[in-house]
Amino acid sequence: MAEMTKEDFRKRYESVLESVLSCDVLSTDTRLSDVLERLRSLLDYTVPDGKLNRGLAVVQTYQLIENSRTDINDDEKQALKEQAIYVGWAVEIMQAFFLIADDMMDHSETRRGKPCWYKVPSVDLDAINDTFFLEQIVYKLIKAKCHKLPCYPKIVDLFHDIVYRTTIGQTMDLVTAPVGKPNLDKFSEERYLSIATYKTAYYSIYLPIVCAVLLTGLDSEKLLKKIEEISIGLGVYFQIQDDFLDLYGDPAVTGKIGTDIQDNKCSWLVVQALKHCSNKQRDILNENYGYFDDLKIEKVKEVFEQLDLKSRFREYEDSSYHKLMENISKLENDGVKNAFEVLIAKLYKRCK
Ligand code: IPE
Ligand code: MN
Ligand code: MN
Repeated sequence: MAEMTKEDFRKRYESVLESVLSCDVLSTDTRLSDVLERLRSLLDYTVPDGKLNRGLAVVQTYQLIENSRTDINDDEKQALKEQAIYVGWAVEIMQAFFLIADDMMDHSETRRGKPCWYKVPSVDLDAINDTFFLEQIVYKLIKAKCHKLPCYPKIVDLFHDIVYRTTIGQTMDLVTAPVGKPNLDKFSEERYLSIATYKTAYYSIYLPIVCAVLLTGLDSEKLLKKIEEISIGLGVYFQIQDDFLDLYGDPAVTGKIGTDIQDNKCSWLVVQALKHCSNKQRDILNENYGYFDDLKIEKVKEVFEQLDLKSRFREYEDSSYHKLMENISKLENDGVKNAFEVLIAKLYKRCK
């Protein structure tokens, strides 16, 4: 079976939308036409225009594992692939609700090359309710498409667990950067690692791969543990790139304008800066990191420049890539191994 491309996956958005808009009361209660209209514009604005890496990873991983299966016939494989597509879109909807809230909390202006959802004047703080709506839609979509599968309870449980972990990660990210109280003392590599693990790795890497594994029914505790370990490594790598791009990426390419310095975030860049700086540079960071003030932001950037963080990042990106590749190569399940290889190939030296 030919590997699903991003374009193939994107084309399925319309049918996802249709399924979502016909979920239980939405299709039966005629008083909800305004709600339907709201949900449609919410989904159209926040879901289909991302990189779709996570959603596509569900389908591609499913296909890579399925290739080596002999216990089911082609029709069964085709049916499961259809379900993988909807589960993939459920992952994308989950990501959308986290991003809507994330952009509000991070005071971001743009996402995917357009104003953040809460920045749309007619939306504003109503975006809060929209995050609840999208979260529930995730479960409605999975139920509509997968409730007959033996793995259905496991998939639902997995989504709950990953939403929970991601929320924990966002909490750690936020309490490490208290509003109005800039403070670098809590920042450390150890803290960085736990934030990135929880807020990013589980939902970005572990979730899509495990969804695919559950759909094939080949989930063993041993394999899941291995997937978790590699997902954390790859997820942290992904977040470190995200932190680099927050400052050094091109907004025309990333579609977003960075806010980590003014937000007082425990970003990989500031953690590296604190590790390598002189006392004088640390004083400058203390006085200037965490303020919505262009002059202060410039001072922080100067220290980063002096410490050559760009080169340090490039070194990290290369050495980490090789370590991750080595760990991936040791995986026993060929399908899962190939899935990780596809993922890391997409991430290496990414600009967006
Ligand atoms: C977002 O982390 C993590 C989640 C939405 C769960 P960031 O705040 O670092 O990501 P960007 O840079 O805004 O995309
Ligand atoms: Mn953010
Ligand atoms: Mn954030």
